[in-house]
Amino acid sequence: MWMKRVLGIFILCFLFTIPWILLVSIQPEDYPYDYEQLSENERLVIRFSHVVGEDTPKGMAARKFAELVKERSNGYIEVQVFSNGNLYKDGEEMNALSRGDIQLIAPAISKLTEYVPEISIFDLPYAFHSLDEVHEFVETKAGQTLVERLKAHNLYAISLWDSGFKQMSNRIRPIHHYDDIKRLTMRIMPSDILEKQFSSLGAFPKKYDFNAVYNELQKGSVDGQENTLTNITSKNIYSLQDYLTISNHGYLGYFVLFNLDFWNSLDEDVKQLLTETFQEVQEWEWKLTNQLNKETLQKIENCGCIELHYLSQEDMLEWEKRFEPLYNYYKQNYGDEFINALPKYQTDT
Ligand code: LMR
Repeated sequence: MWMKRVLGIFILCFLFTIPWILLVSIQPEDYPYDYEQLSENERLVIRFSHVVGEDTPKGMAARKFAELVKERSNGYIEVQVFSNGNLYKDGEEMNALSRGDIQLIAPAISKLTEYVPEISIFDLPYAFHSLDEVHEFVETKAGQTLVERLKAHNLYAISLWDSGFKQMSNRIRPIHHYDDIKRLTMRIMPSDILEKQFSSLGAFPKKYDFNAVYNELQKGSVDGQENTLTNITSKNIYSLQDYLTISNHGYLGYFVLFNLDFWNSLDEDVKQLLTETFQEVQEWEWKLTNQLNKETLQKIENCGCIELHYLSQEDMLEWEKRFEPLYNYYKQNYGDEFINALPKYQTDT
């Protein structure tokens, strides 16, 4: 009887030992490049949250970045993209980044004015006449100073992505002249300069999160808004508006931001891979923005669903002049350094 028991115990011990023998014999070196096998804890997971649709320049660039990084790191780095404000909305994503709940965001630069108020130079109407001018400005000493100042808020700007130039829409009347904006209630992003842009014309600016714009327009708490064409169509904003003016009056772009502490904690080879991939994606995103904005304008022209008006070059010059007091306001608050570096004030030598 006891012989049977001893034999049973012996068999059980043997059966338990086999998986351990097998496991110990599989060393990590056996699957160094098969990171798909690893659990989330073993991979490097970067959570990237943003508020716009998938088919916008930002939405597409975020996905492209995630794909390239996965491929180049053989699956070791996983960028999880959360779009449409599904994870965190406008007012929430910055706090989530600083808590470390997410590691990457790409807010519109206007939304960074709360932290670095002088970054509102990007909001000055007609500060830039082309996207190339924006890219050029960011590379100047003044542009780089602004980028550096984000670091004091634990933000590391690794890339600049475009959304394009903003256009104005509303439901009350066509905007042909800046006086047509008077008394309109307009949704804006949180920025002093944007607030002044509308209040100086006698309009009523109201700040709302991007994800609230459709509802607020529908409820009638605002008459109109300004945004890029891809944002206007992807959120179906144009279905609630009767008039759209192609004014190209202000730049909308994003600094792609890492939590700086998280960035500093990364290995050098990971930093290099991410930096190089961002450089490539940035080039791609800039081209994509141009293409998508052209296609979207075509789509709006063809739909016949909104009355379109284009400002002429002379109109735009007139509008630019009308906004000069905003430049003085900016200078009074933040000095000449940044304004003087704008490409439009550089004389060709
Ligand atoms: C907005 O709030 O209108 C934009 O910032 C949305 C975006 O991220 O493009």
